[in-house]
Amino acid sequence: MRRFQHKIVPEQIVTTRLTLRAFCMEDEQAMFKNWTSDAQVARFMAGKAHSSPAITRSVLESFCYHSSRGNLHWAIVPNRALCAENRLADDEPVGSVSIVRFDSVRKEAELGYALARVLWGQGIIPEAIEAIMKWAIPHLGVKRFSAQVFDGNEASVRVLKKCGFSHTSTRSNGACRNTGEPADVLIFEKVVNFRNDD
Ligand SMILES: CC(C)(COP(=O)(O)OP(=O)(O)OC[C@H]1O[C@@H](n2cnc3c(N)ncnc32)[C@H](O)[C@@H]1OP(=O)(O)O)[C@@H](O)C(=O)NCCC(=O)NCCS
Repeated sequence: MRRFQHKIVPEQIVTTRLTLRAFCMEDEQAMFKNWTSDAQVARFMAGKAHSSPAITRSVLESFCYHSSRGNLHWAIVPNRALCAENRLADDEPVGSVSIVRFDSVRKEAELGYALARVLWGQGIIPEAIEAIMKWAIPHLGVKRFSAQVFDGNEASVRVLKKCGFSHTSTRSNGACRNTGEPADVLIFEKVVNFRNDD
């Protein structure tokens, strides 16, 4: 039995191939095994790959106990057909999609995401992002979405372009890679078009 202990539990969202649900502490092993321990997944992220499940546990604690309206995290759980196609265990999270920052005055939400390598290239993160945006527009009143991408993360740039984001600016040496090297950060944005309801 899963125990959800968030102050604010994100609503469960079901898409064609995925369930996006709140994280729980029982996700520690799957999260570590499926993506947080993988250096290829962490390559363009601020933090290093986790060297032990204890590190994943501390991240999960922050997801589970310190979520707020401005900081929401969904576990990506593939449906049975997608698990069977990819020989994955049923009912295990394979990645995360998050609203890492929500400005309730400006109505702007910043997105973040990561996915187990075995599922790359199947349009999973675009499907998850589209669903989160569709939820966030009526529930949080979001008018503009953004995402920050380290220069060189072409897969993430492709995801954002497929989801209708545009590159609006670059922060030169705007962050540190997990190797300690400085990195340019590309800012992508999408303004909600209420007339077309997207
Ligand atoms: C970036 C990431 C989230 C993309 O998710 P995804 O569900 O694989 O996205 P898509 O299936 O739409 O693929 C996006 C692009 O990845 C590239 N790609 C596809 N298969 C790939 C593979 N096996 N290996 C590497 N890149 C691949 C392609 O360029 C693809 O674009 P295309 O559809 O125009 O060919 C995923 O690669 C990931 O988790 N990366 C590590 C974490 C990360 O970088 N997070 C984002 C931080 S800003």
